[in-house]
Amino acid sequence: MPPASSSEAPLVFAHRGSLPEHTLDAYRDAIDAGADGLECDVRLTRDGHLICIHDRRLDRTSNGHGPVSTSLLEDLNGLEFGGARGILTLETLLRTVLDAGRPLRLLIETKHPTRHGAKVERALVAMLDRYGLATADPDAPVQVTVMSFAALALRRIRALAPTLPTVYLVEYVPPGVRTARLPFGAEILGPGVGALRAHPDLIRYAHARGRKAYVWTVNTDADLDLVRRLGADGIITDRPKFVLGALGR
Ligand code: G3P
Ligand code: CA
Repeated sequence: MPPASSSEAPLVFAHRGSLPEHTLDAYRDAIDAGADGLECDVRLTRDGHLICIHDRRLDRTSNGHGPVSTSLLEDLNGLEFGGARGILTLETLLRTVLDAGRPLRLLIETKHPTRHGAKVERALVAMLDRYGLATADPDAPVQVTVMSFAALALRRIRALAPTLPTVYLVEYVPPGVRTARLPFGAEILGPGVGALRAHPDLIRYAHARGRKAYVWTVNTDADLDLVRRLGADGIITDRPKFVLGALGR
């Protein structure tokens, strides 16, 4: 079956920067390997700093304990994350990407937005504004896209920055819900590869509505074959070198 989208090669994004996740070394490796873009999860510290971390708690990825949201940036900078001293802030990542010497894309996923009202979205848009990145600009050195599993978070982003592109992430399509009824207000649909295996028409569904589809987390030959066959526009992977190699890049 021919790809359902245009003949353009899919964009390759390093998921959480790849390994060790959310470390500057991983992000730099992905840039050096030739990834088109990077994916990053963000949360707020108690003192209002946006930091790059996936989990609600510190325990899995650092030698610290407890929730991120009750920690101060200064305390996090005393811990080790993936063998590196200190936490990676979104601002440091932004500067790294801006200094990369070539245009890059940055997918920023806001985590658990409803817990903290619109604080995360407001802080994110304010920071992007400071760097002139809170808008869709094909000539910008960094093209930012905001992602969330929560339609509420994406509505907040659209209210704060109406032209900033967004990805609506979908992990699971409940049985009995037809894909045509999936709630979807973003420019890009972001199905997990498991959701795509169960509902191979998801990409066609996005394309039929003039949207693109970025699929995560594509790490195996079989999944890469599936997303290429179905015409994904973006591939989010823990193995950017493997995916780039398989695409002949
Ligand atoms: O790129 C989307 C993907 O990152 C969502 O899942 O749990 O890795 O943030 P998670
Ligand atoms: Ca993520």
